[in-house]
Amino acid sequence: MSSNSTILVTGGAGYIGSHAVLSLQEKGYDVVILDNLVYGHRDIVENHLNVELVVGDTCDAALLEELFRSREITAVMHFAAYAYVGESVANPAKYYHNNVVGTLTLLEAMQRAGVDKFVFSSTCATYGVPETVPIPETHPQNPINPYGGSKLMVERILKDFDTAYGLKSVTFRYFNAAGADPYQRTGEDHHPETHLIPLILLTALGKRDAIKIFGTNYPTRDGTCIRDYIHVTDLAQAHVLGLEYLLNGGNSEVFNLGNGNGFTVREMIATAKEVTQTDFAVEETEPRPGDPAMLVGSSDRARNILNWQPQYADLNQIFRHAWQWHQLRHQ
Ligand code: UFG
Repeated sequence: MSSNSTILVTGGAGYIGSHAVLSLQEKGYDVVILDNLVYGHRDIVENHLNVELVVGDTCDAALLEELFRSREITAVMHFAAYAYVGESVANPAKYYHNNVVGTLTLLEAMQRAGVDKFVFSSTCATYGVPETVPIPETHPQNPINPYGGSKLMVERILKDFDTAYGLKSVTFRYFNAAGADPYQRTGEDHHPETHLIPLILLTALGKRDAIKIFGTNYPTRDGTCIRDYIHVTDLAQAHVLGLEYLLNGGNSEVFNLGNGNGFTVREMIATAKEVTQTDFAVEETEPRPGDPAMLVGSSDRARNILNWQPQYADLNQIFRHAWQWHQLRHQ
């Protein structure tokens, strides 16, 4: 790719966005990050990503206008969003404002600037409670929380923007992003932390007293919830393939990104104990409201159309990378 082709990565200081920046850089793309740093990490950008960081918000139309005016931006990868399911139920306004209004403001700025390629970070939460597993992209979308609702609204906006204005987009619906950069340049660090793997590893590090299992009576093989954990570097590489598909003239498309294998919470804890060689306390507690028993995706479409091949599908490997990162980050 020529060096004057710049990719704008919103949310590039966050968990998945920062891995995408690394994958883009490895392929020779110039990157500029837009991140409001509400959840993103300046230190990761400054110490490991070596790209320009513009601190600002996707709701700031004037800032976006200036960004597109002053740089040769070819395409946008859009990660910036709030992503706490529970918080979205308690405070939907925050989610619809940031995730929907922010994205619409960004898309309008792109339209004014004549930028017509967009890679969008969506979620399996747009499906709601699955009727079939593994879930294909054609599965009905009935989100059960405002977070999933906000992502689905953007998917609809993208469809309409393609029809009306020719904006081409690749939408990725992720299952459970997991792991960390194999070279420990970035990884998962949420405040507050609500996700299973980091909570398990923080417990293994002695930073928390116990890991709680949310529900043990689900209709699964051991009574705990099943999820499809996908390595964040594999997600990042799919984004580069999606971008290149658009740069080569591809039409708008939607792809699931998962490994197609589900693991129970108990299996996750057992794997963590093995990888970390640590024993730690486990508490069985009530189910968390809104958690479907099983979410596993079919990603055949990404494999077939984008030629995507996950490199780190092995769960032990995912845990090893996450463990290396957590030890470094919390030493
Ligand atoms: N879990 C526990 N104990 C914990 C934390 C989680 O048992 O302390 C369980 C959850 O009940 C769930 C599984 O571990 O069954 C994974 O939970 P996470 O919070 O790590 O991830 P989710 O599956 O809830 O959420 C992910 C993404 C969301 C996305 C959602 C779609 O993080 O952004 O998938 O359902 F919306």
